[in-house]
Amino acid sequence: MLQKKWWHEKTAYQIYPKSFCDSNGDGIGDLKGIISKLDYLKELGVDIIWLSPIYCSPLADQGYDISDYYNIDPRFGTMDDMDELLKEAKARNMYIIMDLVVNHCSDEHQWFQKACGDPEGEFGKYFYIETVKDGKLPNNWRSYFGGSVWEKLPGHEDKYYMHVFHKKQPDLNWENPKLRHEVYKMINWWLEKGVAGFRIDAIMNIKKPNIFTTYPADREDGLASIENMIRDAVGIDEFLHEMKMETFEKYNAFTVGEVFTDRPDALKAFIGNDGHFSTMFDFSETCAGKNEDGWYKCQPVVCGDEYKACAFGTQKRLGDLGFISNIIENHDEPRGVSHYIPAEDLNDTSKKMLAAVNIMLRGLPFIYQGQELGMTNVDFTSIDQIDDCSTQDEYKVALKAGLSADEAFHAVLPFSRDNARTPFHWNDSANAGFTSAAPWLMVNPNYVQINAKDQVGRQNSVFSWYKELISLRKNPEYKETIVYGEVIPYKAEQKNLMAYYRKGTDKTLLVAANYQNKAQDLKLPGTFKQVLMNNLDTLDLDGSTLHMPGYQVVILEL
Ligand code: GLC
Repeated sequence: MLQKKWWHEKTAYQIYPKSFCDSNGDGIGDLKGIISKLDYLKELGVDIIWLSPIYCSPLADQGYDISDYYNIDPRFGTMDDMDELLKEAKARNMYIIMDLVVNHCSDEHQWFQKACGDPEGEFGKYFYIETVKDGKLPNNWRSYFGGSVWEKLPGHEDKYYMHVFHKKQPDLNWENPKLRHEVYKMINWWLEKGVAGFRIDAIMNIKKPNIFTTYPADREDGLASIENMIRDAVGIDEFLHEMKMETFEKYNAFTVGEVFTDRPDALKAFIGNDGHFSTMFDFSETCAGKNEDGWYKCQPVVCGDEYKACAFGTQKRLGDLGFISNIIENHDEPRGVSHYIPAEDLNDTSKKMLAAVNIMLRGLPFIYQGQELGMTNVDFTSIDQIDDCSTQDEYKVALKAGLSADEAFHAVLPFSRDNARTPFHWNDSANAGFTSAAPWLMVNPNYVQINAKDQVGRQNSVFSWYKELISLRKNPEYKETIVYGEVIPYKAEQKNLMAYYRKGTDKTLLVAANYQNKAQDLKLPGTFKQVLMNNLDTLDLDGSTLHMPGYQVVILEL
């Protein structure tokens, strides 16, 4: 049986601070900007806010490279601003969770600086540093952002350090109890301060197998995918259990893990009743259509039956084991509407359909900033407009594979992390009302059509639809059913129809979506009491057959 938790009935929202709201006119979003928009989030129905990293950072990986865990980067504000944010959130019954990035820190963190000064000393042991003879690196693992995971230790000709992400993100050595203790101390410091918990970054990487393992090369660069490392690492559960007991457990903190793993026991181990985290993201839709050779070979759009199979697959595996977190996008992924709906079908109706089928699943909904407006991918016109290090690397991979510059650019573009990182669209004035200066990353030109000012308060807007979905989830009459009711697929074999029951103790709902642009008929299981939501103005019912135009979605109370 699933143990009920305070956060199960909440709705969460991810803020990417750099692109949310700039209060001081430097082209970069900040904490004061976030504070000024708390009422907007409250109006939407948000309870839990996840902040992507705001700690001191050289921003080589946009804050996921932390140089001081105890301070706020001046670009985002001050610790006083942070305290004010916590206070203002609390006054609105909202919870703030931080991003916990502890697989690595920044090469500008004092730990790493000290390690460079004395690799054999105390801080050298916080990292993976090896002496290399005759240029032979300890292993041939390829970092996530391209190239070897080994980089020369500054100031030393024969020493290298390991980084599974960017070379400015040296991996922390979790085998060292002293390092682990420092991490727990920092976590508790933030929990004492009043954050409600953490989103836990890249956590599967903290455990390494024998670092002298060479895998068969899988590309011409002679390197092997880092996935080999994740697969072969044994013993991560001990670390995670220890971290939980030393920190989160003592504060009843909420934690959501970024867990990418094929482990068959993952759901139980990570989010079961005694699991390491409160919840973790469901990445099954995210991973669909991916290809190990690189983004240029991935499938740009995943929709209809494919999307349905992923979502139902997770729900089936999960059962009552735990509570998953559902997303359609985040700061590492393209915009959900652009990834799960074919470009030619993209409109408010199809966007609302995607929102409904996702938010009505069992689990904690996480909305990524701008998703509630139906923000889309960006028509970047040149690779020079892209800041994201990952896109730059994948572009090179595509070129190496023989694509022309133009082909390579267009092949990687649908997956660029910058699609979701452009500034938030507050209104239709210059720079979408995000900043009075030049924004750090270009604004999507479609802000003139898609923006908050136009949508808040407009009855048929995507924003109003999200607001209605969230309020249905909170409605005392339906809450039990939507939060805890079973997900039972309905007519799962009917093509491009995504329909499921939510069966609670005293109510049954049916969510039914025509996930294609062509009309189709749906035979209903019987009569229904009322239509709770419908993304079209009409309902074409003929006996118990529902004629559904393309992308219609309805939520019926049976
Ligand atoms: C996670 C983050 C991503 C970052 C990486 C390294 O996947 O979501 O943005 O680049 O970890 O910290």
